[in-house]
Amino acid sequence: MRDVFRAYNFHEIRTPIFESTELFARGVGEETDIVAKEMYTWEDRGRAQSDKGQSLTLRPENTAGVVRAYIEHKLWDRGLNKLYYMGPQFRRERPQKGRYRQFYQIGAEVIGPATAGSESPARDAEILELLATLLDRLGIKDWTLELNSIGCANDRAAYNEALRKALEPVAAQMCVDCQRRAVTNPLRVFDCKVPEDQPIIEKLPRISEFLDEPCRKHFEQVKEILRSVAVEFQENSRLVRGLDYYTRTAFEFTHGALGAQNAILGGGRYDGLSEALGGPAAPGIGFAIGEDRLVLALSESAEAVVRKPDVYIAPLGPGMNKEAARVARELRRHDIVIELGDENFRLKKSLETASKIGAKYALIAGENELSTGVFALKNLATGEQKAVPRTDLARAIQS
Ligand code: HAM
Repeated sequence: MRDVFRAYNFHEIRTPIFESTELFARGVGEETDIVAKEMYTWEDRGRAQSDKGQSLTLRPENTAGVVRAYIEHKLWDRGLNKLYYMGPQFRRERPQKGRYRQFYQIGAEVIGPATAGSESPARDAEILELLATLLDRLGIKDWTLELNSIGCANDRAAYNEALRKALEPVAAQMCVDCQRRAVTNPLRVFDCKVPEDQPIIEKLPRISEFLDEPCRKHFEQVKEILRSVAVEFQENSRLVRGLDYYTRTAFEFTHGALGAQNAILGGGRYDGLSEALGGPAAPGIGFAIGEDRLVLALSESAEAVVRKPDVYIAPLGPGMNKEAARVARELRRHDIVIELGDENFRLKKSLETASKIGAKYALIAGENELSTGVFALKNLATGEQKAVPRTDLARAIQS
């Protein structure tokens, strides 16, 4: 993951595990399930006995914290606009397979002034292409990218109005949460999981019919770039995501083998979030992978990549451990994974060990090799053995 983030020029950020409750209420939204039902919140003690404490919350997600840090430390001044994070998040949900109260996210955010291109559909497409690359490199198969645009504030007003109107005659037949949402924040009706409500939700108007021209164009351009880099996606006009800060592009990657909790990751654009938290205009887009679910998906994919050692070095005879250590040090600098044997092992035992741990090559480091500077490199799959000069070893192994 870190390799991929590096290739896309992301830097790591670590924000605190808890923040002020208000940050999440304002960022994620009062009416969302996360803020309304799932946060671990407590009143902190004030300094003096009489002081009223501050309300704090274990972070239920990391986007609000990253944007807070961006504003507080003026990260735009330092050119830090592509940030990734890894760490625990907390939500009081009903635990089940793939859903935990302490879970782990690996996420990233691209944020910055619009003049720096942070609003461009190229950023959205780059994020989605990064995710496809990441999952492919991990050996995860069978993922589906579900994509939608949920428009901007302009579209939302008209859409909310249409939803309110459509919900008015039917809300009484829905669950209590939906009855409340229908009035306060009708978009959140789409978060409802109650089976009886689904036929009603199915018939509600779609956001796609309400996008204004700039939002429609933005979405078209995202899709155009995705087609050009051959990242497949499915449009899902019901995908609105359960957090209030989203605008325009919204997406989830799902995985068939995960059962009910099949969203391996989710994300989207949040162009007004910085302003909502008291910062400057700073359009952004990001995602968070559910690491626990990623691991479940990995164990379902037979081809999950566990990196085996490239080379087992077999020091042959007294005094050879220190020489083998030098060769290992040289090769590891080339990102070659090395397992070291011991000068007391017989060659036969070394070769057996090398095969057992799945090394690709065995490299023999004896008196002879060191004096001539030519090493015996044995391909353990084919049994073929080659004489390779020391300076060519890294290249021979990597090719
Ligand atoms: P989210 O969809 O709430 O988005 O969470 C992202 C991912 O975290 C989910 O797709 C899922 O894989 C995992 N996840 C969520 N809740 C749980 C849980 N209780 N147990 C296990 N895994 C879970 C966000 O958190 C946004 N901050 C993502 C984002 C970043 N949007 C823009 N930037």
